[in-house]
Amino acid sequence: MSKLLLIDDEEDVRYSFQRIFDSPEIEIATASSGEEGLKVIPKFKPDLVLMDVRMGGMNGLETLRRIRATNPKLLVILMTAYGTTQTAIEAMKLGAYDYLLKPFDAVKIKELVGNALKAARDMKQVVSYEPMLQSEDYDLGIVGRSETMQQVFKLIGQVAASDATALVTGESGTGKELVARAIYSHSQRSTQPFLAINCAAIPEHLLESELFGHERGAFTGATLQRIGKFEQCNKGTIFLDEIGDMTPPTQTKILRVLQSGTFERVGGNQPIQADVRVIAATNKPLEAAVAAKQFREDLFYRLNVVRIHIPPLRDRRDDIPLLVNYFVKKISREQQQHPKSIAASVIKTLEKYHWPGNVRELENAIRRAHVMAKSDAILLSDLPPEISGQGGGGAAIPVAGTAGEAAASDAASLARQLFQWARRDPKLKIIPAVERELVIQALKETNNNQVHAAKMLGITRATLRKRIDKFGILRELNVK
Ligand SMILES: Nc1ncnc2c1ncn2[C@@H]1O[C@H](COP(=O)(O)OP(=O)(O)OP(=O)(O)O)[C@@H](O)[C@H]1O
Ligand SMILES: [Mg+2]
Repeated sequence: MSKLLLIDDEEDVRYSFQRIFDSPEIEIATASSGEEGLKVIPKFKPDLVLMDVRMGGMNGLETLRRIRATNPKLLVILMTAYGTTQTAIEAMKLGAYDYLLKPFDAVKIKELVGNALKAARDMKQVVSYEPMLQSEDYDLGIVGRSETMQQVFKLIGQVAASDATALVTGESGTGKELVARAIYSHSQRSTQPFLAINCAAIPEHLLESELFGHERGAFTGATLQRIGKFEQCNKGTIFLDEIGDMTPPTQTKILRVLQSGTFERVGGNQPIQADVRVIAATNKPLEAAVAAKQFREDLFYRLNVVRIHIPPLRDRRDDIPLLVNYFVKKISREQQQHPKSIAASVIKTLEKYHWPGNVRELENAIRRAHVMAKSDAILLSDLPPEISGQGGGGAAIPVAGTAGEAAASDAASLARQLFQWARRDPKLKIIPAVERELVIQALKETNNNQVHAAKMLGITRATLRKRIDKFGILRELNVK
């Protein structure tokens, strides 16, 4: 249940908003002035405040200033008439989450409020990662006892204590966002806002303005000044998800913020200070993007100061039973049902599957099985056919049996991912980029022993030499 506080001095407006948000998932409180609103907040503890700018008594801006001073993480959306957008922009500078222009459009309001409530949840829920704390009291935990996940936990702890930029990498569904939120909730900035931006989801030409804002008239359609996330999130943490999808001009601006803590709005020339911690994530091999000149090398090194790589689930299969248990508990609590037991054959099957969609796929499989199960136990037949290998036209990919089969199926799923990436961006020249990267890795790993490196890669030494020459690799590795 989310809590919404409406502050407006007009009864009609309060009434119509109450009607828009009439839902069992939202609890609403109202206040008819800024002064009253400030009194209601500590008692009602809203997740979001919707407030009019122009009110008798204390106006919206002053009220916002006071809310920010005592509750910096509380999200506030301001409502304003067209003529007063300048005030709304002032409000954004003060850290308002967004503003709404009158007359209101119910669909837009619902969308905006939905996004804001999600952002509020992101900030509020503490993501625990210390394995000892993974009790049922925790809504959100990163589950994992495998050695590789222990390493991840250690790194989260180390990076959370500092203000360093962190780069979280891993395949889709491995838990990158969860890790980013864990860093935030354990950092000194946890009392300040956390804003997540998915760089792949925002059209290229809008991303820069989303991040840094724009001046009025900066481009066609920029009829009003806009405050970007970096300005809005001052003192907070920004999570740049899918950073590999960012275009070079935006990369340049990000680099500058990281280096000097300043930026300019699009179309503006006044430097603006930003005290923002950046956590970035990507499921693309950024090294290959750097090699293909798609991603700025200097930005890569700047982001890579602390690198947290989350291994794919198939490389830490010993975490699977633990995760299954966790999801069964989580899902049964959500659905207010008794947790179902799990047949041993189910766990065995889940442990063998190659999980191209990683933990997200596992969570979805358990969710589905929990619904499908007709008895108190989850059986093999309750799993999706591609996982159980039963019916549904047979398994698309064989469940890995021998080590050789496992490697082949891992290679297939990796190739599928790379292919998706190549399809989106042919400029990347995926085959040479990956080949080059593999050769570099193998040489580094073997201390430039070409015989061993060739063996590792499954090619002849002559082929390896050809690749080394073709890509000019020795120069890069500083070997004469
Ligand atoms: N170790 C874990 N313990 C518990 N839940 C996890 C774990 N890893 C991932 N999850 C869950 O799996 C889902 C996917 O995680 P998340 O969104 O963090 O992945 P991601 O790496 O950001 O994926 P994508 O690249 O597709 O954005 C979420 O519901 C998350 O809560
Ligand atoms: Mg993600």
